[in-house]
Amino acid sequence: MTTFNVDKIRQDFPILGIDVNPGVPLVYLDSTATAQKPISVIDAMDDYYRTSNGNIHRGVHYLAERATALYEASRAKVAAFIGSDKPKELIFTRNATESINLVANSWGRAFLAKDDVVILTEMEHHSNLVPWQMLAEEKGLRLEFIPVTDDGDLDQMVFDQLLEQKPKLVAFAHMSNVLGTINPAKAMIAKAKRAGAVTVVDAAQSVPHFSVSVKDLDVDFMAFSAHKMLGPTGVGALYGREELLDKMPPYMGGGDMIRKVYLRSFTPNELPWKFEAGTFCIAEAIGFGAAVDYLSAIGMDTIAEYEHKLVQSAMIKMKTIPGLEIMGEKAAHRGGVVSFTLQGIHPHDVAQILDQNGIAVRAGHHCAMPLHDRFKIPASSRASFYLYNTEEEINHLVISLQKVVKMFS
Ligand code: ALA
Repeated sequence: MTTFNVDKIRQDFPILGIDVNPGVPLVYLDSTATAQKPISVIDAMDDYYRTSNGNIHRGVHYLAERATALYEASRAKVAAFIGSDKPKELIFTRNATESINLVANSWGRAFLAKDDVVILTEMEHHSNLVPWQMLAEEKGLRLEFIPVTDDGDLDQMVFDQLLEQKPKLVAFAHMSNVLGTINPAKAMIAKAKRAGAVTVVDAAQSVPHFSVSVKDLDVDFMAFSAHKMLGPTGVGALYGREELLDKMPPYMGGGDMIRKVYLRSFTPNELPWKFEAGTFCIAEAIGFGAAVDYLSAIGMDTIAEYEHKLVQSAMIKMKTIPGLEIMGEKAAHRGGVVSFTLQGIHPHDVAQILDQNGIAVRAGHHCAMPLHDRFKIPASSRASFYLYNTEEEINHLVISLQKVVKMFS
């Protein structure tokens, strides 16, 4: 395990040095929405445009070959980062949302039929609800939901009962973007498989924060985004088991995803390019690889341990604030996310006053309206932590929240 030096890490992130207002430094507690980028990621993309910009898979000239090599090297890095030894199982997409849409529109359209049961959960981000709702409407699927307990966990007993309905698909978040709950993904996947279901894990919040291995999870599909793990926006990934990807029809049609095109038909390309139509986000994919290099050099276990300490400390300190309630406070396992309400104060007011103090948090439903309905609240404020946050920033958050309470009392 490498020694963790947060001051040194912060120097790698130019944006963390800015002032939000004159003399008010930025305290960035919104990494769950998007993480900040280290210089190495910014430089990798800058360098690509300065020295290697060409279109991939399409030319024999120097730049085309350089770009292709960099792009494919990134794919191999990202695949290895999630424990896959087959880069062709790693499809580049625009983000986790597009990855889930790819599964729904390709695998789901081809292999799900009327009255098939699909199990989702009450804690899903809209990106792991809406694609299935759209498909359910088109195909007449039956959607069932694992409820969330008051503690913020998935109710495993209800899950066991739902599995008796022999679902064709089970899709759930590895870590909730609202509650921070880390679900027992490996055990849930094993149970789903025994019931005969294909599994989809939305890993948008887990892969950035702790070590995740598709082999260990034994998952069929896994979706995640680069921008939440220090990489650029506009690129994400879908991991898929080769046997499943092979049988799936292409999702989007166009250049690069074909082997042969006739006037009235085509034959698709092989994996992974079958699913990468059109000129892709080349610079971003290269930035994604640089982000994986950065995280790997520190070590995901080291990062997870540091974030665990931060979030435990934040929760203890935040709970001293009168009227503050943490959503799903007692979840069995939690990552670096704390969503909360302050009695009688609208979350947007909280976020606005915190912003005046330089603190960036998110307020609203965090793309998880049904989960807020479950807790009978329309919205919450959310502080989220990453490897570059500090104990001093938590103290600043707590002092600023105390100010908010005073202003409204
Ligand atoms: N999914 C992102 C969030 O939770 C946008 O904020």
